Parts: sequence; C-alpha cells; structure tokens
Amino acid sequence: MTGPSEVTELLTAELMALALDVATETGRMLVDERPAHLGFGTKTTPTDVVTVMDTKAERLLLERISASRPDDGFLGEEGAARDGTSGVRWVLDPIDGTVNYLYGLPGWAVSVAAEVAGEVVVGVVAVPTYAEVFAAVRGGGATRNGTSIAVSSPSSLAQSLVGTGFGYDSRRRARQGAIIAQVLPVVRDVRRVGAAAVDLCFVACGRFDGYFERGLAPWDLAAGGLVAREAGARVAGLFGAEPSRDQVIAAGPAVFDQLHDVLAPLRPDRD
Ligand code: IPD
Ligand code: CA
Repeated sequence: MTGPSEVTELLTAELMALALDVATETGRMLVDERPAHLGFGTKTTPTDVVTVMDTKAERLLLERISASRPDDGFLGEEGAARDGTSGVRWVLDPIDGTVNYLYGLPGWAVSVAAEVAGEVVVGVVAVPTYAEVFAAVRGGGATRNGTSIAVSSPSSLAQSLVGTGFGYDSRRRARQGAIIAQVLPVVRDVRRVGAAAVDLCFVACGRFDGYFERGLAPWDLAAGGLVAREAGARVAGLFGAEPSRDQVIAAGPAVFDQLHDVLAPLRPDRD
C-alpha cells in the first residue's frame, strides 16, 4: 500500500505515462469509431444521455489500465467500481460532454485521474476535437500538449469571462438559470462549453477567467480540478469548503474572491 506522503516520483511518472496513453488512445477511438447514427439511452433524467460509445470507451480505459496495473481500483461514470489493493484508484469519465459528442459538437473530453490513498496525484484531460491534452501532476505544474500553462490575471470580475454548466434535473436548472441571470450583468460574458473537465482546463490555460457549477460528480472534477490547481487556480466550494457536488468555483487568485462573493448570497449550492 502507498500513502500520499510516500508517493514516489517513480510511481507518479508511471501513472502519468499510463494516463496519457489511455486518455489519448480512448479519445482517438471515440473519433475514429463514432457511428454515423449514434443511438442513445437516458440515465438520471430524460436529458441525461448515454451512448454505446460511453460504455465502449470506459471498457477500453479499464482494459488498458488493468493490463498494466492489475491491482488498482476504479471509479467510472458508466459503472466501473472496484476496490484495488495497491492504494491507487483511477477516477474516469470516458466521455465528459456526452451531449456534445452526441450532437457532433467539439469540446467533449476523456477525463482520467489517478488517486493515491484518496488524493488525486495525476490528471489528464484529452480533448480530441481541439487536438489538446491537458495534464498535471500534484506539485508539478500543469501542461497543454506538453507546454506549461497558467491561469489568467484579469483586472476585475467585470473583465472576466466565466464558464458554467447546468445539471440534468429540471428544477435545479430553473434555479441555475436564475443564478446566471444575476452573474451575467457583472462579468464580461458567460460561456457554457458542455464538459466540466474542459471548463476547468480552460480556467487553467486562461481561456476562462473563472468557472462555477453545482452538481459535479467525482469523475467530472478529479482530473480537471488538478489541472486547474496546478496552473495556479483556486478550486473550492462556498465559504472555504472543499469543492464538492454542492459547488465548485475555480478561478485565478485575481478574481476568485470576487466571483465567490457574487455567488455566495445567491446560494448556488441549493436547488
Ligand atoms: C456533464 C458535463 C456538463 C456538466 C454536467 C456534467 P457528462 O458530464 O460535464 O458540462 O454541466 O454537470 O454531468 O454527463 O457529459 O459526462
Ligand atoms: Ca460522462
């Protein structure tokens, strides 16, 4: 078993190499093997879609990771759940942004994170439609296609481009709509890309100045959250809480507090 304080450089390098390999290969498979007519089913609500390719991509990730590291655990959006014995657990979203993928829009991603004793130490977000791979190692900075990236430093929230996302539940969406109506007048503009992992990577490389969302699952947050942090972002919940399903706010230090303080009285952590 390995604890977080004993995460060796060797182990981290091995996990990173594997994460890069499997995320890239899965992204390529999703592009190359996308059927012309992609059927879909629904999950938590009629708007929460899943395609055969989500399942196929998760299977490929599990196969490749298990072949190299048979004792690791898994948590995947499409059902992978296994306690390993090595102390390493992979947190996987085979397609983050399934609605984009279904409609043939860019900006979906393969999100692969490795945790050691419950802490994310490696994160890779492959975005094939942008030909970009974002990666981070805890304590080692963040990169896009191998080149170092850093958050933006806007002069104020009024000059900030802010990303967000909406859940699949209609009642929650009604509230999220009311909240965004309060945010829109006080920022440069708002974007909804459609994949939380990509939103977080956009904060990391300065394409977004900030991002917030309610309802992220562990696989939406794990890899992108590390990339954003390692690029200099603060990634947190409301009132100093850890980021969670309730709320995730990510921004560089220049505007994090301003974004937080606009959101806090609106209680975006409530339905
Ligand atoms: C969704 C996307 C979306 C976000 C939702 C997520 P999925 O993930 O990340 O941007 O707004 O909260 O559930 O369902 O496409 O993997
Ligand atoms: Ca997904």
